[in-house]
Amino acid sequence: MILITGGAGFIGSNFVLDWLAQSDEPVINLDALTYAGNLGNLASLQGDPRHVFVQGDIGDRALVDQLLAEHRPRAIVHFAAESHVDRSIHGPGAFLKTNIEGTYTLLEAARAYWSHLQGTERETFRFHHVSTDEVYGSLGPEDAPFTEDHPYQPNSPYSASKAASDHLVRAWHHTYGLPVVTTHCSNNYGPYHFPEKLIPLAIVNALAGKPLPVYGDGLNVRDWLYVKDHCAALRLVLERGRVGQTYNIGGWNEKTNLEIVRTICRLLDELRPDAAGPRERLITFVADRPGHDRRYAIDARKIERELGWRPAETFETGIRKTVQWYLDHPEWVAQVQSGAYRQWIATQYGRVGPA
Ligand code: NAD
Ligand code: TYD
Repeated sequence: MILITGGAGFIGSNFVLDWLAQSDEPVINLDALTYAGNLGNLASLQGDPRHVFVQGDIGDRALVDQLLAEHRPRAIVHFAAESHVDRSIHGPGAFLKTNIEGTYTLLEAARAYWSHLQGTERETFRFHHVSTDEVYGSLGPEDAPFTEDHPYQPNSPYSASKAASDHLVRAWHHTYGLPVVTTHCSNNYGPYHFPEKLIPLAIVNALAGKPLPVYGDGLNVRDWLYVKDHCAALRLVLERGRVGQTYNIGGWNEKTNLEIVRTICRLLDELRPDAAGPRERLITFVADRPGHDRRYAIDARKIERELGWRPAETFETGIRKTVQWYLDHPEWVAQVQSGAYRQWIATQYGRVGPA
């Protein structure tokens, strides 16, 4: 079996669902169920003995030790993190605690467990660290996309904490020989995406007739990847990635934020017309994010060359599926828009009016 951390979050839950749709190998899912964790994402697995959910913190060494001893996983896939840049600006402490200290605790527990494995079990064990392209910093308009050799230049508390965790993972391999692989993915989108991030926020606000907040001039660029394509890449890297290597994963889909929001408006106008008129009227320019990275773009040629991975979805097909998913799951949207969510929206957007 495999141990997943953060498997009740956006990418982690998509990964668990995808994994169990393709294999009968059981998953232990360790997740603290922070505001971002949602067991509703995994409702279809209720009663499925292949999925064992454990609510707990990756920083709880005794718990992690116990799970490793009891279930003897062949791999750990580490998703758990504080993941939202804007929250890291308001409160970086939780990011340092989970992303750095939590990863350190997990690495130490994995090292102790792995050092007692023998033979094939020891040789095939993997610690797969799920990281982000944001550790590389920001690109200029003419710069080449990030390769695996790009220098680390993290700019936000979030990306700095992820960069620190990457360095720990690298050091645990070089110093102790722990068999690690690290992946750096670009921005994901798709089902179960918590509506604090741009794409799901724009969808749920547009459906509710609320303003669509675009930071700054709306011309910041992200490289978007459909979450299921990310999951397929992670499975491949886990099975065939070379130990100690890093792999960049991206969709070759660079878009400005304004293009993203306009695309969502057009799709919703087509699929769920609004009597009040085209939804682009809701686009509202608001104050920029402090330290806002201008452009991210991934050069995904290494994973294509070595493992044969390419995304199956274009942005056009992936965003259509995503918008349709939100239209089909109003109860999921209503459930995640709890009191805590409303409080975050008031904190982040309450004080910023139209620019
Ligand atoms: P998310 O915020 O949706 O989910 C994070 C999950 O981790 C939640 O279920 C939460 O409850 C859990 N968690 C948080 N702190 C924990 C702790 N201390 N112990 C145990 N569980 C804890 O995040 P996501 O978007 O699914 O991202 C998953 C991983 O992928 C993160 O490591 C993130 O850095 C990375 N990543 C995300 C993106 C993206 O576009 N979302 C892109 C590249 C990489
Ligand atoms: P986000 O989804 O938070 O991902 P990240 O910051 O990790 O790339 O934001 C994506 C882009 O959208 C980023 O340039 C910030 C911008 N953005 C807005 O313009 N308005 C918003 O309300 C949010 C949440 C993000």
